[in-house]
Order: sequence, then structure tokens, then C-alpha cells
Amino acid sequence: MHPLLSLGVFWLLPLALMLEEDSPLDCVPRRSVPYHRDNAHLFREEGVFNYSTMLLREDLDLLVLGAREAVYALDLNDISKKHASVKWEVTQEQKDECRNKGKDPETECLNYIRILHKTEDNRMYVCGTNAFDPECDYMSYTDGELTLEKKAEDGKGKCPFDPFQRYASIMVDNDLYSATSMNFLGSEPILMRSSPVSIRTEFKSSWLNEPNFVSMAQMPESDKSEEGDDDKVYLFFSETAVECDCYNKLVVSRVARVCKGDLGGQRTLQKKWTSFLKTRMDCPVLESQLPYIIQDTYRWCDPQQHWKHCYFFAIFTPQSDTSDLSAVCAYRVSDISRVFEEGKYKSPVPVETSFVKWVMYSGDVPVPRPGACINNEARKAGINQTLDLPDRTLQFIKDRPLMDQAIQPIGRKPLLVRRGATFTRIIVNQVQAADGEKYHVMFIGTEEGTVLKAVNYDGEMFIIEEVQLFQPPESIKILQFSNVTGQLYAGSDYGAAQVPLATCERSLSCMDCVLARDPYCGWDKTDGKCVSVSDSQRELIQSVKAGDASLCPDADPVKPMNQFIWPGGNLKLSCPSPSNLAETSWERDNRLLTPSTRFQLLRDGLLILNASANDAGQYRCVSVERSKTDEYTSTVAEYHVTVDPKGYGRGGQPLFPQAQTDGPSVAGLQAVVALLVVGLVALLAWNFYKGHLPLPWNCGKNRAQPQGTHDKEAQSSTVTHQDAVRPALAENKPLVSGTDNNGRNNNHTGGEAAFNAAGENDAPEVSLQFIDDESEI
Ligand SMILES: *[C@@H]1O[C@H](CO)[C@@H](O)[C@H](O)[C@H]1NC(C)=O
Ligand SMILES: *[C@@H]1O[C@H](CO)[C@@H](O)[C@H](O)[C@H]1NC(C)=O
Ligand SMILES: *[C@@H]1O[C@H](CO)[C@@H](O)[C@H](O)[C@H]1NC(C)=O
Ligand SMILES: *[C@@H]1O[C@H](CO)[C@@H](O)[C@H](O)[C@H]1NC(C)=O
Repeated sequence: MHPLLSLGVFWLLPLALMLEEDSPLDCVPRRSVPYHRDNAHLFREEGVFNYSTMLLREDLDLLVLGAREAVYALDLNDISKKHASVKWEVTQEQKDECRNKGKDPETECLNYIRILHKTEDNRMYVCGTNAFDPECDYMSYTDGELTLEKKAEDGKGKCPFDPFQRYASIMVDNDLYSATSMNFLGSEPILMRSSPVSIRTEFKSSWLNEPNFVSMAQMPESDKSEEGDDDKVYLFFSETAVECDCYNKLVVSRVARVCKGDLGGQRTLQKKWTSFLKTRMDCPVLESQLPYIIQDTYRWCDPQQHWKHCYFFAIFTPQSDTSDLSAVCAYRVSDISRVFEEGKYKSPVPVETSFVKWVMYSGDVPVPRPGACINNEARKAGINQTLDLPDRTLQFIKDRPLMDQAIQPIGRKPLLVRRGATFTRIIVNQVQAADGEKYHVMFIGTEEGTVLKAVNYDGEMFIIEEVQLFQPPESIKILQFSNVTGQLYAGSDYGAAQVPLATCERSLSCMDCVLARDPYCGWDKTDGKCVSVSDSQRELIQSVKAGDASLCPDADPVKPMNQFIWPGGNLKLSCPSPSNLAETSWERDNRLLTPSTRFQLLRDGLLILNASANDAGQYRCVSVERSKTDEYTSTVAEYHVTVDPKGYGRGGQPLFPQAQTDGPSVAGLQAVVALLVVGLVALLAWNFYKGHLPLPWNCGKNRAQPQGTHDKEAQSSTVTHQDAVRPALAENKPLVSGTDNNGRNNNHTGGEAAFNAAGENDAPEVSLQFIDDESEI
């Protein structure tokens, strides 16, 4: 073989494999919608921050919004309309006390509303951190007024002390289930039910080990249960893995559940859960072997179907900062409940010096099954409530609340992976598309203040759009959905926003409407509009799975616009492409225009610098978008450019419209300013072009590239130039935890070497390899 050829095979083959493997790994939003006041109804009050707790009161047409030291009752149909508000501020005395305990008076010693639930008598239960001394109260909405009853109930164990600590809560049958820390130091995590008999978790690291609580959901599992099962409450969180056979801390994602009817044990586990079982939840993202960390979940149930057909959608972010991927995984509730009902337990086994290994328990399991709810079989044996459970069962579960088998997502892989945006919250809505099929549409809030709208079409990830809701970009702290108004509600530190699920009017052409592949939208040929599928009686053009726009009528020809240049002048011809997945190119007099220092391709147009008379002609901006079925070309803009030899700006179109005024007295000054600005823009553009500065829109396709890369991009339409390079960079970086390990555990040389070797190529799979059986020790 020719030496160069073999070199080529050796170097290019892995690259090609990497590209191929990576192309489905993450995806880019097709459309990016920058911040605009009209994107959403916004609510915010001057001087009030942290709008991060919400309660939908569809019965009252209200969105109840909890912020720092205040609660608002907003119009559910338009949250910019405030109906009522109530302040709940800490007193100076409380603030002083909090400060004396070493907390920051400006950030920590305030009352952050954390819990808002509806009670059975139509009032609301509300808790706040109350200057590191959590307190709860009842609140009612009557005659257009929000009133706090000033009951001053102790909020310990219900609401966190620390406003920066994560927590979860849910109200079921008027009982509050809360997962938070119950002391000032934040070192006593519990899952608690506040009821006449309060039940909580044991303080043991095998139960909860430095957890970060994420969310809770209930499941009506007694419904049509042949076994006479009880309803359950699920808790999602992440924690340091006790079972990890590794030297450094490893965080894993968990789902735990308890039975609603649990009353605790008689002697063992008195006033503690007898039904607390937990297990690991996996969301395997190809790039990393370190487990991803759960951040939020959404319970999705078809109202017409049994609970066994419900799903949990969950978002995950990486555990180390070597990766900037976020992912969504979906789980069947039936898969989770099967593991708890039939799965094996993990059991601690002491080995060597004070070291405990967690292995699968293969001994006898007591009856009734530890952690199970009271069911018909138990009742038959005379056990009517958890208080009747035998000590053997209780002692077993007290020592072994962890299941052996982890929960795998549907399809054993994520539904969506996105690079460069950190997911914070998720809502899922089901919609019936024009093809009669139902699709799950994911709405995902990010740390960058955007909401993504995404679908997984038979394994293909597709992000329809990304909308900037808040300016400045503020992390989305909460997302809620009302099926009564069909609207999404988002909260951030800065304010709250309300957005519709479908914004079809963003597509102005049939091709854009169809290539958007939005199951909510279709093209109405009669009206020539992109409209909502549910609002239309007509047959619409839509092709969500294939993106087949061939049925679209021919677009109206673009009307050419007149533009003037003058020798030595500059001109920008704009061409706003509707899609990040499209490539735009320019033609002059029907010939492809080659970018050069004088003709610069911008993301949204063409910049002609230092024009000459030869630059006159017919300019056309053409956008090419590939879908699964075909390649679609459309003319976005067309310009008729002529030379105006006399004028500096007279009748011509300078780069910046605001510099264009006819007043002769300011013309000279304007010319100078315009020249300066043009120079600056040219410098910037040159830098972008040369790659000295990162392009801010680089999450999408980098279309400011000079020619030559187009062919490569054609082959991997979902991988941008940058995306293809980054995983390689990330993998060469040593793992943070790996280096940490070096310092701390010098005595475990053998294991450490193995761990580091694995860590080198980002695959410390060791960390999750548990010994499968007791017999292996
Ligand atoms: C509350 O909002 C402020 C202002 O945006 C922010 O700096 C702070 O981190 C927020 N506090 C919490 C507990 O989220
Ligand atoms: C359990 O309930 C059944 C029927 O409700 C009753 O006959 C039985 O005595 C109860 N058993 C105990 C141990 O309380
Ligand atoms: C909204 O959802 C709830 C439960 O999730 C359901 O009971 C109710 O019927 C739904 N309402 C509408 C208008 O779909
Ligand atoms: C503009 O172009 C002319 C020739 O067309 C050239 O002489 C001149 O140096 C150019 N100016 C700049 C700033 O590049």
C-alpha cells in the first residue's frame, strides 16, 4: 500500500467513525428565536426576584406565583395581569438572628417561597425559607384578595432552610410529602409525610446519602389492582452512591418510592417509612461513562389509559465538567414498579477493614416482602397495616432499602441530547398530528433562559425551535403546563413568562412550515398560512416524520429590491434564513458568488466592502435545506444592485439605516461616524471570518465559513464543524475526579492505576461495575 494511503486510512478511518458515531449524538435547534417582547406574556415586579414556585389554580383561573418575600395571583390566560399579591417578609429581628448565625442578610436571610399547594378545602398551603427558619402558613383567595392566615406553622422538614438547596414536595390527599433537609446545617436529609402521624426516613447513609432532591409524583397504583396494592409517591433525586466500588465520590440518579398507606412499624421503624425503596436510574449518554445526574422529571399519563402506561420523562446533565451535553430519557412507570415489586435487593457486606461492599442479596427474603405495600396477600395473613408487619421484614428493609437492578430508559438510550445548553426543567405534551399519530413534544427549559421544543421521531432527535424567553438570559427555574389554557408557564430569578405550545405563524412559507416538522402546525393552502392543526378544519400540508415539502405549492417569486452602491462604499444585503439547518449561498447574475475579503458571507446576509462599479448586478440569496426525503431550495431574497457614482449615501443604502438622513448640516459628521462604524464592523467581520472570535450563533450551523467545507457539511448535516471537533477535545482532558483521586488515595495504587487508565479515555466504567453476587467476594 502506498505509505500516504495507509496513513490516510489510519487517520481518516477513526475520524470518519467518530463523525458517524457522533452525528446522531446531539442535535441543533432548527430555528433560534431571539428574545422579543412578543415571544411571551411576561410578569415581573420591580425589586422582586426569584419567581421559582408555581401553583396552577385552573379552578380559579389563576396562576399563583411564589417569589422572594411575595406571592402573586396572576390571570391564568395572561400572566401580565396581576389580580392580587401578598407580601411575606421576614422581620428585622429574624434577619438579625439569621445574620448572627453567619448567613448573608442580603441573599440568605430572606423569605423565599418554596412550597405552594392546594388543600382540599380550596385554600393553599405555603412555606418559605423565612431567614433560615422555615415556616408554613395557609393562604386563601377570596374576593380578589390573597390572604395569609398567619398560622406560623413550623416548616422544618417541609421546606429547606437554605434557599439555594434543592427540595421536592407534593400534596396528596391533604398530606404534604416533602423531601428536604430538616436542620440548619442542611446535613439531615429526609423524605417526610406530614399527616396526623408523621412518617419520615431513617437517618442512615444507606437511605439518603448527601442527596439533591429533584421532584416528586404520585401514582394511583391501587386503581384496578388485583393484588389490592396501594397508591405510591415517587421521589427523584441524586446522591453519592454508597454501592460504588470506587475510590472517589460518584453521584448517581435515583428513584425512590413509598406507599401512601404507610404508618411506620410498631417497634422497628417506628414513625419511619416501612416502604422506602430506591434504585439507580440510568440515562446512558454515549460520550461519557460517568453516570449523568437527574435534574427534573415530568410525569406523563394518557388520561384514557391505565397508570401502567404512564411515563416519566427526565432530564440529565453531566457529573463532571468535561462534557457539556444535556439529555432527556423516558421511563415506563411499569418498568420502575416492576423493579421494586419483583427485583433483587442489594445488601451491604463488610470486607477487610471497615470497608463495605454492596452486592446483590441472594439469601432468603422474608414474607411479607420488605418494602412492599400492604396488599391482599398480607391482609390474608392478618396484616392490615404496616404497624402489623413482623420485625424480620422491617429489619430487612431498614438495612437494605436499595434495589440491585437499575432502571433503564425506553430504548436504552436518550430521546434527546443537546450540546452546549444546560437543561433545567421539562414538560411533555402529547399532540395528534395531521397524520393521525400522536407525538410527545418535549418543552425543555435551559440555564440560558431558552425553552426548546423537541420531538423524537422514531429514534431521530429533532429540535423544532429554541426560544429566548428572558433578557438578560436567566436560568429557567420552573416550568408548568396547563391543559386548560394550553399554555406553558416559566419562571426565572428575573420574572415569569407564559408561552403557547404552538407558534405556527413564525413560518411564513409553506416550505418553512413543513420543514419545521412541528406536529402542532400545518400549511393551509387556501389561506396561504401556517396554522395550528387543532384549530383548522381544512386538510393541511404537514410531514413531521419525513419533512417532505414536495406537496407545497410553488412559492411566490421573491420581489427583487433595488439597492445602490457607490465606488469605495460598503453594502449589506440581508438574507435572514428561517433555519439553522439550511445553508445559504449567494448568486450574482446567476453564478455562485465566491466569498472573499470583499464579499463576506454573514449568517444573515452578504457584506460587500470597498465596492466598485463591477459589483453591480442581480444578487440572489438561496437557502438549501436537506430533509430526510429531499433537498429543498428556496430563494430568500433578491436584490438589484446598481452603481450610484455620484453619491455618498445620496439615495444609496449605507450599511446602517440610522445614519441615513437627508439633513445636509449633519451629513459630514454622519459620514465620519458611518466610516468609523463600518471600519469596526469590517474588523469584527474579518475576525469572525478568520475565526479569531467565536461566532455567537455557533450552536447552529457555522455558515460564515468560506467555501470548501460545504461538501463535508453536506455529508453530516447534523454535525457542525465545531461539534465534530469538540468531543475529541473533551476526551483528551483528564477527568476532574480522576486527578482528584491521585491526591487522596495514594495507598490504593493498583486500583488507582486501573481507574486512571480508564479515566484517560473517559471511560471509568470501573466506577459502576458492581460485584454481581455475594459469591464473588
Ligand atoms: C435570587 O435572584 C437573584 C437575582 O437574580 C440571584 O442573584 C440569586 O441567586 C437568586 N437566589 C436564589 C436562592 O435563587
Ligand atoms: C384485619 O382486618 C380484618 C377484617 O377487616 C379483621 O377481621 C382482622 O381481625 C384484622 N387483623 C388484625 C391483626 O387487626
Ligand atoms: C387536564 O388534566 C387533568 C389531569 O391531568 C384531567 O383530569 C383533565 O381532564 C384535563 N383537562 C383537560 C381540559 O384536558
Ligand atoms: C478599494 O479598492 C481600490 C481598487 O478597487 C483599491 O485601490 C483600494 O486600495 C481599496 N481600498 C481598501 C481600503 O481596500
